Amino acid sequence: MLNGSRRGPTTQGSLFDERIRSSDADGAVGIERAFSVPFIAELALKEKQIQQNIRPVIAVHKWFARRPGTLFRGLLLSEFAAPPLAEAFFRPHQLAGVRVADPFMGGGTPLFEANRLGCHVFGWDVNPMAWWVVRQEIEHLDLEAYEAAARGILDKLEREQGDLYSTDCQECGASNAAVKYFVWTKAIDCDDCGEQIPLLPGYILAHAGRHPRNVLICRRCGELTEAESLDEPGCCRGCGEELVVDGTASRGRCTCPNCDFATTYPRPECGPPIHRMVAIEYHCESCRGTHRGRFFKRPDAADLDRFSSAGRCLADLALRVVPDDEIPDGDETARLHRWGYRRYREMFNPRQLLGLERLGRHILGVEDERVRNALATNFSDLLRYQNMACRYDRRALKSLDVFSVHGFPVGLVQCESNLLGIQRPGTRTNVGSGGWSNIVQKFLKAKQYCDEPFEVRYSNGRKSLISMPGEWIGDRRNGSDEGRVVALHAGSSTEAKLSESSLDAVFTDPPYFANVQYAELMDFCYVWLRRLVTAEAFRSHSTRNPDELTGNVTLNRTLEHFTEGLSTAYRCMGRALKPGRPFVFTYHHNRLDAYYPVAVALLDAGLVCTASLPCPAEMGGSIHIHGTESSIIDTVFVSRSTGRVARRELADDATSIASLVRRDVELLREGSVRVTNGDARCVAFGHLIRLAIWNLRSNWDAGAAVEKKLARIGREVDRLGGWEAVHANIGADILQSRRRGGTIGEAELAYDGGVDDEVPF
Ligand SMILES: C[S@@+](CC[C@H](N)C(=O)[O-])C[C@H]1O[C@@H](n2cnc3c(N)ncnc32)[C@H](O)[C@@H]1O
Ligand SMILES: [Zn+2]
Ligand SMILES: [Zn+2]
Ligand SMILES: [Zn+2]
Repeated sequence: MLNGSRRGPTTQGSLFDERIRSSDADGAVGIERAFSVPFIAELALKEKQIQQNIRPVIAVHKWFARRPGTLFRGLLLSEFAAPPLAEAFFRPHQLAGVRVADPFMGGGTPLFEANRLGCHVFGWDVNPMAWWVVRQEIEHLDLEAYEAAARGILDKLEREQGDLYSTDCQECGASNAAVKYFVWTKAIDCDDCGEQIPLLPGYILAHAGRHPRNVLICRRCGELTEAESLDEPGCCRGCGEELVVDGTASRGRCTCPNCDFATTYPRPECGPPIHRMVAIEYHCESCRGTHRGRFFKRPDAADLDRFSSAGRCLADLALRVVPDDEIPDGDETARLHRWGYRRYREMFNPRQLLGLERLGRHILGVEDERVRNALATNFSDLLRYQNMACRYDRRALKSLDVFSVHGFPVGLVQCESNLLGIQRPGTRTNVGSGGWSNIVQKFLKAKQYCDEPFEVRYSNGRKSLISMPGEWIGDRRNGSDEGRVVALHAGSSTEAKLSESSLDAVFTDPPYFANVQYAELMDFCYVWLRRLVTAEAFRSHSTRNPDELTGNVTLNRTLEHFTEGLSTAYRCMGRALKPGRPFVFTYHHNRLDAYYPVAVALLDAGLVCTASLPCPAEMGGSIHIHGTESSIIDTVFVSRSTGRVARRELADDATSIASLVRRDVELLREGSVRVTNGDARCVAFGHLIRLAIWNLRSNWDAGAAVEKKLARIGREVDRLGGWEAVHANIGADILQSRRRGGTIGEAELAYDGGVDDEVPF
């Protein structure tokens, strides 16, 4: 049964019964039986490619490493709705009365999926930004009032500083073309001749593709020239100088184009880097119909003047919104320090600071608290596009925001987006990215989705939108008094106060050891947001917190520290969970020992792992997923304090674990996932950890020292063969192939075990 259902939806009675089914009631439902790996894998994979289209609510505010919403919907419905999952998934539900907690809510995926299904939700996050973001996602908002306020602010900004984003069109001479992006390069002064050296890694501004031809910057006069070929780019149309592709700067070394003096960068002792404007990409409504491709120009004197005038205006203002906070040391912030940045505000140019100061003041003037908070959230999200760490993507011809990787990348070519955004006259269509109008538009879509969520179904290559009447995300229903419990806590889940046996389920996505430094990154927004928002949770100057669970070298946070914290949080949740109810979380790491804390925490909490299910949770092409050995597969660990485990899941040596891995690989492939060696490794890690927990459950000493507990897990994993032995038995034949279906494991998959084939615990 177990494997039949894992494999895919089975046929069942068509009557849908909204009664809450508990997995231990009749053995007929529960994640272990009702979840379908291929069905959810396919949906999750599609979602991760275009997450904002499948779960628009995530556009409320950036959060890192969001797990797929479809996965958590699949898990919740496997547990609480009548099977088959493939039918339940596309039907609306009202799981009234079900109480679900998430101790590490982050961007809120498990919580808003549960809330949408009608559950009461209880969430914790030690980072006040996460608490804020989830609150903004779930809190009901009067969208008409919001839209009017957002538009009013845009009009004011337009009047105040619209001209700072206008330029003269080079094609038709119109003086009101709208700047999409200002492209800047970092620069240093030459120690020898005193000239400014532009730190350009290359002279290509734009690669042919989105624009008909390549666009090159002249190394002598800075003019822009279009070239068909990069092998023979020809000469500058301004000064006749031969065009070159390779720039002046690479890997910390540069040569002065004026005197050939060789020197190094960055130079933190000279303060934050200086920038030079090298190009403008703009939009001209007047000659849009006759012009092919994008509009590029070299900045002219008027463009430079406008920029200087912004600096003068800023100097005249007594700043109320712009923060003065210093950037503390950290694993991620170290890079900022290496570039001479000491304060967050140094990462913005004067025009950005001026715009943000004015925008913030307008937001502070909005009376309605929920609308004001929503606008403050937009402001915070806008910051990631309005700073001088944004890079210009020379192929996609757009801005890469500061959070396009899970760190603070400092590039040499920066992109300053139009702060207001550009909307085509008479339409709400945005041209370009990174402006206020872009943020407002995606926020509106996000909140509209909360009022009327949908699913996307794919069949035979066709996509259809399925509406879900009766489902909604919120603390109260749009236009009615109907409400549900949404209890969100800005605090560590190690200190969560919950009554015993008060929860029906825990669904979470804990920190994956040192994968993302949430606090270091989120401080970038937080130092601004706390100037616009009054909240007890925003009293501290930083989102850093000694209780944050993560590996961090600067803070000396080790695997042991992480284990102890995770264990405390899991014990806390375990106590609050009704006996036999599911404690479910995703996990993913490229190192096996980074899974040991998970095993310790579950054992300490008296939970036994009943399933380890694979699911794609990252995008293959994601910028931070690199190297052939990295994986897009998460393991979903399902645990309970009591229940039954299928005997055939209880492998005890590398050969039988390898066949479980092969089976899972096959299931993922059925879900159209291309499974690599790195993915198979993560699947194997999941099984090894699950089995180590199973084997150690009956004589586990939760009171032992953490080092001893971790070592015990390590020994058990080794005894099971570890990755090497499992790997040797998997066989490379099923990996890295796009072939679907296949015969591997068929005999095992057809096995139809009864209750006797389950082991109680
Ligand atoms: C992987 S994220 C969760 C992502 C989220 N589920 C989503 O889909 O976007 C883990 C979260 O755990 C939080 N965290 C770390 N230590 C914590 C603690 N002691 N208590 C509560 N939350 C904590 C981090 O701030 C982070 O937001
Ligand atoms: Zn024009
Ligand atoms: Zn020089
Ligand atoms: Zn030239």
